[in-house]
Amino acid sequence: MSAIVATSLRKSYGEVRAVEDVSLDVAEGEIFGLLGPNGAGKTTTVRMLATLLRPDAGEVRILGLDPARDRVAVRRLMGIALQETGLDDLATGRELLTLHARLYGLPRARARERAQELLAHFGLEEAADRRVGEYSGGMRRRIDLASALVHSPKVVFLDEPTVGLDPAARAQLWGAVRRLNREEGTTILLTTHYMEEAERLAGRLAVIDRGRVVMEGTAAQLKARVAKRVVTLALDDEEGDFPRVARALAAMPGVLRALPTPEGVVVHVGEGGPRADEVRAVAEKEARVVGATSNDPTLDDLFLTTGRKEGSQ
Ligand SMILES: Nc1ncnc2c1ncn2[C@@H]1O[C@H](COP(=O)(O)OP(=O)(O)OP(=O)(O)O)[C@@H](O)[C@H]1O
Ligand SMILES: [Mg+2]
Repeated sequence: MSAIVATSLRKSYGEVRAVEDVSLDVAEGEIFGLLGPNGAGKTTTVRMLATLLRPDAGEVRILGLDPARDRVAVRRLMGIALQETGLDDLATGRELLTLHARLYGLPRARARERAQELLAHFGLEEAADRRVGEYSGGMRRRIDLASALVHSPKVVFLDEPTVGLDPAARAQLWGAVRRLNREEGTTILLTTHYMEEAERLAGRLAVIDRGRVVMEGTAAQLKARVAKRVVTLALDDEEGDFPRVARALAAMPGVLRALPTPEGVVVHVGEGGPRADEVRAVAEKEARVVGATSNDPTLDDLFLTTGRKEGSQ
């Protein structure tokens, strides 16, 4: 069965069309990633899926249930950790988790036990009896995620779960998410701006750009769709009209797109397209080239193609 289905979701805030048309189908037991530039509509999508925001149009199903009809039942199935945490600063970590567990109807003893399990799971045992207001940013992210899991939800929504975490805390959180998925079969939908996170955690990804799903697939599939090779040219700033250089490169046969960046131009080359030295030679007619490298595409390259106005290179 599908854990999360979104069909043609749409949402506007006044004049702002935050989500134009988003459809997704996430199977039970999947870790699914949503990528996209700032303002693309990821959080708005997650809030609609998590029943926190009513869509203007379209439908949501969570494990076959319609949140518009069975809101309470659906809420019990899901856990949510949002971009902005709403934690009670005066409670200790242990109190907060126990309270959340009680709110979800766990008996007192079981609630205490569940709190202890989660404190251990997220490496917060030492901080368990300190007030959340005194936690560091990373500890707050962890307690927030833990509190989304008290009732052992089947479906979990994580909006940028590792923002502000140090590398060790991030790796620890990835471990916790993977374990949750593997050991409890929890379906996880997460948004992220960290391509490494997307690649390591998510089995499948969707890219949202200006309120629409523009690409979907495994990380490998998405990278293959971006380009065969990526040639990165560093250009001398003083000469620099990078958009002009990019236009010249984009006109080369076999070049899929050429994107000006603050440092130069990134050229996405298709199957059978020009070699790096050929790209470089064309660029040299337009500007001083100080470096040229050729690499396999990464998710960062995919990201570079999003968030650009229609018609720009
Ligand atoms: N409560 C709101 N009121 C008005 N406009 C909003 C509101 N929430 C979001 N928006 C607008 O909707 C659009 C999509 O925002 P959203 O937060 O969904 O993007 P996002 O993909 O999560 O971005 P980010 O990567 O920055 O978190 C943006 O233009 C944003 O300004
Ligand atoms: Mg967001």
